[in-house]
Amino acid sequence: MHAELLVPSASNIKRCAQALQSGELVAFPTETVFGLGAAVSQLGAIEGIFKAKGRPSEHPLIAHVAPGAELTGWVAELTLTMQKLMNAFWPGPLTLVVPKGERMPFEVTGGQNSVGIRCPSHPVAIELLKATGVPVAAPSANRFGKVSPTRASHVLAELGDRIPFILDGDVPEVGIESTIVSLLDDQPAILRPGAITAAQIEAVLGVAVKSHGEVSKTPNANPRVSGALEKHYSPDAKVWVLQASELAALQLQNKTLCVGWTDEFLAQADALREKCGEVLVEALSDKPGEVAKALYATLRQADELACRQVLFEKPGQTPDWEAVNDRLKRASA
Ligand code: TXA
Ligand code: MG
Repeated sequence: MHAELLVPSASNIKRCAQALQSGELVAFPTETVFGLGAAVSQLGAIEGIFKAKGRPSEHPLIAHVAPGAELTGWVAELTLTMQKLMNAFWPGPLTLVVPKGERMPFEVTGGQNSVGIRCPSHPVAIELLKATGVPVAAPSANRFGKVSPTRASHVLAELGDRIPFILDGDVPEVGIESTIVSLLDDQPAILRPGAITAAQIEAVLGVAVKSHGEVSKTPNANPRVSGALEKHYSPDAKVWVLQASELAALQLQNKTLCVGWTDEFLAQADALREKCGEVLVEALSDKPGEVAKALYATLRQADELACRQVLFEKPGQTPDWEAVNDRLKRASA
């Protein structure tokens, strides 16, 4: 099989919706990362997702819905808490983990009674979901354990020989996976940090939210969240997360990509280049959202440029950097 890369014209979106309805896989852009989609009603296609990714089949998938889609049957109940979060953050990068409805297949939920559901804001995703008419299960469109794709070319390189269609679209605005909040217990809990923070969710709900830090300290924290595996989101190059002051002492043997945003880090990286030779320096803009947006493409670039290692500037340990710190920790594990 060789994937067709399709521009997101109305007719191509319609064609992809029909492909989903008839049980084929379609990769498509969202505002976070590209997803590998299958209609939740097509169990053969759901199985195909796990095969294409090489992902263990007990890992639950996120079901994507169009704005205003009827959720009855897909989730057990539309609670007031859900409605508040949907009104505040949908369409957008927030996944709600809630009790599943009777129509949602266990194949999608990894055998669990809960389902992760989200309404993406990327216009191509919205049009595709509207035209498909049923929820679309979609993990990130990368091979298991690898860096999530933020360009159609990333999907083509990794899954092009395994899926029939890749729908292109504007570059994801957010660049890292959605925030996942579990509403299964009395207290909402962040299972995966993302662009929407615990503080933003607290402000909407008016109750305390269990932070991702607290959740990951709890013994038996849900191991089924693949984003919760220690090593994940990794390029082939070794990733080191370092402060500017740590660069000075380094002696580098191999081709290296340095990525940072403060003047101090970039100056130290330039000095390394003069001292050690094969050092490439990439400057990012200093906002957490901008670093998140560039993060995965930058990690992939290290592999494309045949760098053996990436020296990534260590962000501050503040809530606005939490999601980037989380992904860097896993990429460097
Ligand atoms: O931004 C995103 O969420 C992207 C785009 C494509 O929408 N999707 C994504 O999917 O990141 P994936 O499969 O790579 O990660 C989804 C995470 C998984 O780690 C999965 O375990 C967790 O969501 N998840 C889904 N349903 C769950 C459930 N019922 N309980 C606990 N975790 C769940
Ligand atoms: Mg993933």
